[in-house]
Amino acid sequence: MHDKPPVSPEPELFTWEFASDPYPAYAWLREHAPVTKRRLPSGVEAWLVTRYADARQALADQRLSKNPAHHDEPAHAKGKTGIPGERKAELMTHLLNIDPPDHTRLRRLVSKAFTPRRVAEFESRVQELTDQLIDGFAERGEADLIHEFAFPLPIYAICDMLGVPREDQDDFRDWAGMMIRHGGGPRGGVARSVKKMRGYLAELIHRKRESLADEGDDDLISGLIRASDHGEHLTENEAAAMAFILLFAGFETTVNLIGNGTYALLDHPEQRQLLQRSLAAGDTALLATGLEELLRYDGPVELATWRFATEALRIGGQDIAAGDPVLVVLAAADRDPARFADPDRLDLARRDNQHLGYGHGIHYCLGAPLARLEGQTALATLLRRLPDLQLAVAPEELRWRGGLIMRGLRTLPVRFTPA
Ligand code: HEM
Repeated sequence: MHDKPPVSPEPELFTWEFASDPYPAYAWLREHAPVTKRRLPSGVEAWLVTRYADARQALADQRLSKNPAHHDEPAHAKGKTGIPGERKAELMTHLLNIDPPDHTRLRRLVSKAFTPRRVAEFESRVQELTDQLIDGFAERGEADLIHEFAFPLPIYAICDMLGVPREDQDDFRDWAGMMIRHGGGPRGGVARSVKKMRGYLAELIHRKRESLADEGDDDLISGLIRASDHGEHLTENEAAAMAFILLFAGFETTVNLIGNGTYALLDHPEQRQLLQRSLAAGDTALLATGLEELLRYDGPVELATWRFATEALRIGGQDIAAGDPVLVVLAAADRDPARFADPDRLDLARRDNQHLGYGHGIHYCLGAPLARLEGQTALATLLRRLPDLQLAVAPEELRWRGGLIMRGLRTLPVRFTPA
């Protein structure tokens, strides 16, 4: 007689323990319930897609809409779901909440302004910002790398790129800080911060539009205003929504890329040493493959943003009804042993690494080149300037933010020889 091996008990999702290490629970789901409907902490029920092949297919499936109007939400839950876009602010009509043909038009327009060349020209500025931030704590021998490094770097970088004057950038830092601290929590402060940001961006765009002809500014907002497609321009509202999504999509993600990435390196001393040695030898190949591996291994975006079935369809053999929300679990897909050899191992030299950390399909991360630049510069400079960097607390003491979409640390206390 063959006894089936006992199935390990179903893990609880969205608890404290889950937030600090969701990977065992995702492994269980991938194996026993790869496409499964779960009640989220907000009370909304959504399908979670955890296998790589299903995830990749779902991300590219145009029958899954990004427009929250397709959500068949029970009347009693109206307005309580926290699904972005339900608050019908103009700023929410952005790339991540719209479908073709609007998405195609707006993405084409923004791609004309947000070019790899513009990002490459920004390299020395990102290096300068990185060094300035490290200067701020290098002599102290200790720091919280989230608050003093990972958090300010992307906000100043994106503000510079958008063309927000330096003297106004600390306001952005405060508004963004409110959003990251309370995202998914109390709404009042966040709503106020979003409102202030909206007011500021609207005015800045208006000002830049007025002065465009005589100044010829080369910042991204001016580029957005100038960009045209078959004679079509972005309206001021569309430009404001675009600037907002660039800030919003490019901020907490980068904080977490630097935070999760640094932590993963500190937690894998021999991988970190390999990287440090290759950087010291002037070789950046391992830095490039390594950053992709850090995205796969413990990326900033745990779940892709909301999608809604516009018709009845099947994912991984599972029937999904029209109107149902679908969440693609990137963190689960990127550890799928059916796709990645030895997926729980951090291997900075991994080559066959088509991870989904930046998404896939038409909503593939627009900011990936900027994210790579910031991530590579931040990690390489930290390791070069603070070579004996180490955690100042036990890994179990680190606290992770419990948000649904993003995965990142609240703090990252470190020690090093003062430099
Ligand atoms: C979209 C990840 C940085 C701008 C996405 C998506 C992912 C992602 C997974 C697709 C979401 C979905 O399909 O539901 C990341 C990661 C980053 C990063 C891991 C690491 C730092 C940035 C930066 C910017 C940016 C720096 C811009 C400054 C965007 C925009 C979209 C997007 C505008 C929407 C694209 C569209 O809908 O067409 N990102 N992102 N991201 N990202 Fe990023």
